[in-house]
Amino acid sequence: MSTRPRPLVAGNWKMNGLRASLTELEAMVTANNTALSSNVDLLICPPFPLLQMASSMTLDAAKGRRISIGAQDCHTKESGAHTGDVSAQMIADTGATYVIVGHSERRADHAETDAIVCAKAEAARRAGLTAIICVGETHAEREAGRALDIVRAQLHGSIPQGMGASHLVIAYEPVWAIGTGLTPTAADVAQVHALIRAELVNLLPQVGADVRILYGGSVKPSNAVELMGVENVNGALVGGASLTAKDFLGIAAAYL
Ligand code: 13P
Repeated sequence: MSTRPRPLVAGNWKMNGLRASLTELEAMVTANNTALSSNVDLLICPPFPLLQMASSMTLDAAKGRRISIGAQDCHTKESGAHTGDVSAQMIADTGATYVIVGHSERRADHAETDAIVCAKAEAARRAGLTAIICVGETHAEREAGRALDIVRAQLHGSIPQGMGASHLVIAYEPVWAIGTGLTPTAADVAQVHALIRAELVNLLPQVGADVRILYGGSVKPSNAVELMGVENVNGALVGGASLTAKDFLGIAAAYL
């Protein structure tokens, strides 16, 4: 029988942040004391130009890595003629340990299919990174009663076979909740996360119970305790509120 997965609170800075923004990351590192770090893992995914600096400043020679660093996307291949793209191997080379794949903004803006997301997650595994695979329905799909079918199909199409629990995180992000201030009810979150857990156990029988399932979409300090308390919610993927140390740590404090 497996224990409850250790929570992860992850920040996705999206296309936000200049070098000056790293003072917020510095404040997060400083505030990540033993009380917090013994209960929850913290991760920040800045845009590519800040990745190396973020990775260096979160690695303490004496105390090890204080906050994990990840990227927001990777290419499916290790290298080659792909102008403007960044490989998982390059991300790992900065010291980063995570990469988000299949965020709904990339699925929409860059026409990423489940097959592409799956290949990216596979590339992440080859590079030794943990892939955070994002799934979630649109507003129209929820209204049509198709949320569970959409999420199930995305999981089946996006998760490579034989992933280990330590190399995989799933983030459920209903598209209509991202950046809108709207969130599903706790009962709706519980229903989708229960489905994701069941599908993970089905797809990855050895490790499915141990894979972390994050909720994302308008998570704030004011709603974190309720959302993080839902069964099978093992942390959060936070957009806007991860840009400041105050709000990001306010969300992580749900685990204090
Ligand atoms: P918000 O927290 O800004 O709604 O964004 C969620 C998200 O898309 C994280 O990946």
